[in-house]
Amino acid sequence: MAPILSGKRIILGISGGIAAYKSVTLASRFTQANALVDVIMTHSAAKFVAPVTFQAITQRDVATDTFEFWHDAGRLRIGHVALAHAADLFIIAPATAHTIARLALGLSDDLLSITALSYKGPMLLAPAMETNMWTHPATMRNVQILGDWGVDFIGPAEGRLASGEVGEGRVAEPEEIFEVACKVIGRGGPLDGLRVVITAGGTREAIDPVRFMGNHSTGKMGVALARAARDLGADTVLVHAPLAVHPPGGVALVPVHTAYQMYAAVMEDLPQTDVLIGAAAVADYRPSASADKKLKKLPQQQIITLERTPDILQAVGQRRGNAYCPDPAGPDRQRPRLVIGFAAETNDLEANALGKLKRKNLDLIVLNDVSAADSGFAVDTNRVILFERDGNREDWPLMSKEEVAQAILQRVVARLGRLNWQKRRP
Ligand code: C5P
Repeated sequence: MAPILSGKRIILGISGGIAAYKSVTLASRFTQANALVDVIMTHSAAKFVAPVTFQAITQRDVATDTFEFWHDAGRLRIGHVALAHAADLFIIAPATAHTIARLALGLSDDLLSITALSYKGPMLLAPAMETNMWTHPATMRNVQILGDWGVDFIGPAEGRLASGEVGEGRVAEPEEIFEVACKVIGRGGPLDGLRVVITAGGTREAIDPVRFMGNHSTGKMGVALARAARDLGADTVLVHAPLAVHPPGGVALVPVHTAYQMYAAVMEDLPQTDVLIGAAAVADYRPSASADKKLKKLPQQQIITLERTPDILQAVGQRRGNAYCPDPAGPDRQRPRLVIGFAAETNDLEANALGKLKRKNLDLIVLNDVSAADSGFAVDTNRVILFERDGNREDWPLMSKEEVAQAILQRVVARLGRLNWQKRRP
C-alpha cells in the first residue's frame, strides 16, 4: 500500500495506442491505493479499450468529450476546469507522439488536452510509440519543452513494439509508473532536499566462482524503507545486495554483492548523505581467500578460513561532524545527521541492541526478534522495539514491514525537526 496516494485525486489521461490496455492495471493499482482516479480518454484511446472498463475499475465516470459535465458535491461544474483544479497529479499513460506534441504546443482541441492546459500541478508522462516517432527531432524537441516546464517522464523502455519490431518506444510497466507517481506526488514532502541512503539485502561472500556465504535476508525491510523515504520527498538511494523482492522505482539503485562493495558504496555517498539507515544483513566474515576455480569435491573435511569484514554502520556512526557543521578535523570526518541501525537478535534482545546502539554510535536502533515467526526474515510483518540515543524505548505492535518503515521515517522527520536541520542548499 502507498498511503501517500490515499485520498489523492489523480487524472489518468489515456491517449490512443495499443499500450492503453496496460493502463487498466495502472488505474486498478491507483484505485486500490485509495486514490480517486478520473480517467480521461482521447477518442482514439476509446477505440483500443472501452471506457466502461475504466469506469468499472475506478468506480467513477470516464470522459472523452469536452462537452461532458461533471456533478461534484451536487453542483454542476465545468468538467475540465473542475477536474484540473482538484487534481493532485496528472498522468498520461500511454502518451502518444501526437498528445505530447499537443501539450508542447499548448493545443486544447479535446478534453484531455484542454484539461492539461487548465492544470498547474505535477505531471507525469509515459510515452509509447514506434522508435522512429520517439527519436524524431520533433518529438525530442517536444519532450525537451515539456521537461523544461517541469513535466516528468517515465520511459519509454526498449522492447517489443506493436509493429513487431524491437526498439525504444515501449511504454513503462504499470508498476514502474505507479512507483514514480508516488515519488512525484511526494515531492516537497517533509524530507524534501535531504538525501537518505538505505542499505538492504543480504551480502554474498564468494567461496569460489560458483559458491558463496550468504544469509536469509530478502531485502523487504530495506525496500519498504526506501519507498517510505521516497514518498516523503527524500532523494533516496538504495545500496542493495541481491534482493528477493522487486527493487522500488523512483529511487537511485546501487547494486552490490559483498560487504566490502557495500562499504565502498556507502562511503562514496557519505559527503552527500543526510540520513543513513542500515537495513542490510551484512556478512561479518568472508572467506580469507576466494578460489578462482570451482573447488572440487574431496573425501576429507574442508576448512574455510574466515576474516572480518568492515562494519559499515560503525564506521559511519563513529565519524564526527556533518555536512552542515564540518568538524575541524576535516571533511573526511563527516557524519550524516542521523545514523540508524537494525538489530536482528535471537537472544538477550535488549542488551544486544543497546550494546550496538552504543558501540556503533547510532541515533536509533530498531530491534527485532528474528526467532519469532511473525518477525524477521522473509515474512511480511515485523514486531520491533525502538531504542533511541537519549534512552527512549518504544515497543511497537505487530505491523506490516511497510507500516514499520513508514513509522521509522516519521521518526526520522521528528528527530530531524528536533535537530533543527536545514534543507540542503542547491
Ligand atoms: O552487529 P550487527 O551485525 O548485529 O548489527 C546490525 C546492524 O549493523 C544492521 O543495521 C546492519 O545493517 C549493520 N551492519 C553493517 N555492517 C556490518 C554488519 C552490520 O552496517 N558489517
